[in-house]
Amino acid sequence: MTVDVETIADTLADKGWIVLPDFLPLEQVRELREQARTQWDEGAFHAAGIGRGQELNVDESIRSDYVQWLERAEQGALADYQTFIEDLRVNLNRLLYLGLFEFESHFAVYPPGAFYRRHLDNFRGTSARIVTAVLYLNENWQESDCGQLRFYTDGSDGGEYVDIYPHAGQLVLFRSAKFWHEVMPARRERFSLTGWVRARGSAF
Ligand code: OGA
Ligand code: MN
Repeated sequence: MTVDVETIADTLADKGWIVLPDFLPLEQVRELREQARTQWDEGAFHAAGIGRGQELNVDESIRSDYVQWLERAEQGALADYQTFIEDLRVNLNRLLYLGLFEFESHFAVYPPGAFYRRHLDNFRGTSARIVTAVLYLNENWQESDCGQLRFYTDGSDGGEYVDIYPHAGQLVLFRSAKFWHEVMPARRERFSLTGWVRARGSAF
């Protein structure tokens, strides 16, 4: 990684989003993808809901990906990534005074044709998710494979956008309550590790 965690936190506090194309080396990307692939092949994933727990409500017209929630890892690429996010959380806490307190994350698989319609990353009635982190795990992704994250940069749900393709090792971070985004249907299986730094209660 070439950008330090303080700079990333500054950018999130100021501009609100950042794309880091070569965040994770290929070796670690492969380790994470193999972990996700093994669990996927074992049938451990489930259809993603629009909420979680009691709010879980699978609506295939909104999203059609599959997820596998993750626990804190003790070693390996996942543990290293969780440590980075923990550093980021501490830095953001200093800048934003949000009482950021935990990280929840899941692997996601979008089979060919799967999508996630335009949305914000907070649940109905709560805004506990403060920062979204999406790490992509796909080698040799071509633009013709589609499956890009369409990210609306002006805070509206249909204005200016950038298209971010899910290239191996690329990390996208953004303020969860501020930026509308959607996942366009992909032509091949699309793997990612998506997580959220959360606040206790409702921060804003
Ligand atoms: C999400 C999401 C974006 C992506 O899981 O909430 O918007 O590019 N993911 O996978
Ligand atoms: Mn989202």
